[in-house]
Amino acid sequence: MILNQVEELASKAFGELDKVTDAKELEAWRIRYLGRKSTFIQILRSLATLPLEERRSVGARANEIKEAFEAGLAEKKRSLEKQTIYPLGIPSGVAFGKSSLVQLKSLDVTLPGQQVLLGRLHPTTQILDEICEIFSNMGFQVVEGPEVEWEYYNFEALNMPVDHPARDMFATLWVDFKTRAGNRSMLLRTHTSPVQIRVMEKLSPPIRVIAPGRVFRYEATDATHEWMFYQVEGLAVDTNITLADLKGTLFEFARRLFGKDRKCRFRCDYFPFVEPGVEVAIDCLVCQGDGCRLCSNSGWIEILGAGMVHPEVLRRVNIDPEVYSGFAFGMGVERIPILRYGIDDIRLFYSNDLRFLRQF
Ligand code: DAH
Repeated sequence: MILNQVEELASKAFGELDKVTDAKELEAWRIRYLGRKSTFIQILRSLATLPLEERRSVGARANEIKEAFEAGLAEKKRSLEKQTIYPLGIPSGVAFGKSSLVQLKSLDVTLPGQQVLLGRLHPTTQILDEICEIFSNMGFQVVEGPEVEWEYYNFEALNMPVDHPARDMFATLWVDFKTRAGNRSMLLRTHTSPVQIRVMEKLSPPIRVIAPGRVFRYEATDATHEWMFYQVEGLAVDTNITLADLKGTLFEFARRLFGKDRKCRFRCDYFPFVEPGVEVAIDCLVCQGDGCRLCSNSGWIEILGAGMVHPEVLRRVNIDPEVYSGFAFGMGVERIPILRYGIDDIRLFYSNDLRFLRQF
């Protein structure tokens, strides 16, 4: 008797489950057949009162059916979810659980699509690319050196022995304090000039390279100071290289980067690894030399340091300064977009604020 009742209920339930087309109907079905108050669950509960023999046979079958209900429910749920696609732009609540044909009927093709945002190059990368392109076109090769550097390459080989006062120009992040007394300790390079040494150790003249990369300074950050920034180093070594070559090259560079009407000013400066050393400035982009806030009323903006490679530096890498000479230069990269776009805080570059980065 009970067994018949259970079988009937089961076939009815499965028939109904087949016809279920959305999540709401499925939930109703679950309550009807697996809910606490459903006939089927009531029957299962009442089995306890049956005589042992009947309880065994009916109980086994009823449990089988219960498991089949649960499996059917899970399966139906999965297939409904698969059917429910959510095309962009369909008004919410319209199509869930309906067949895809019904959904497509409700697709409003006049709704605006969702904007797909494109990635872009970081402003520093964009400028680096420009600089590398300009120098490549002049016959310079692009090379790279390590960011964690030996004290030797960062200072010593560049004519700045231990206790040389010029080391004060470079607030240094030391990597290994213990061996600092020795001359083989490591640091985060404070400039890209050590790459000059590495290049001259490996290649023999004629040499024409530029070396872009990150540099680090032990610096409190503010609007004009970052503890990490980018530089591009340049080096040319050959016979008969003179200060005139340096001037011609850097003048041409400034005009290609900042515009063909740019003026350049070369003035004496001091860097231990060059002699003579120069500081290069361009006429102010904003006031064209008349004097304004950007150029602190001087009409000029410094863009790089340069000079003729010091004979001592050449000697150290076994290049004979009686035969060869060279020029070198180094520039800060962020300074260029700062000047070009009037950016007033260098910290914006590496604080990952998309509102800033998306403007370039
Ligand atoms: N390395 C220097 C700095 O970071 C810049 C520099 C000056 C590089 C003169 C040079 C140079 O190659 O000749 O301040």
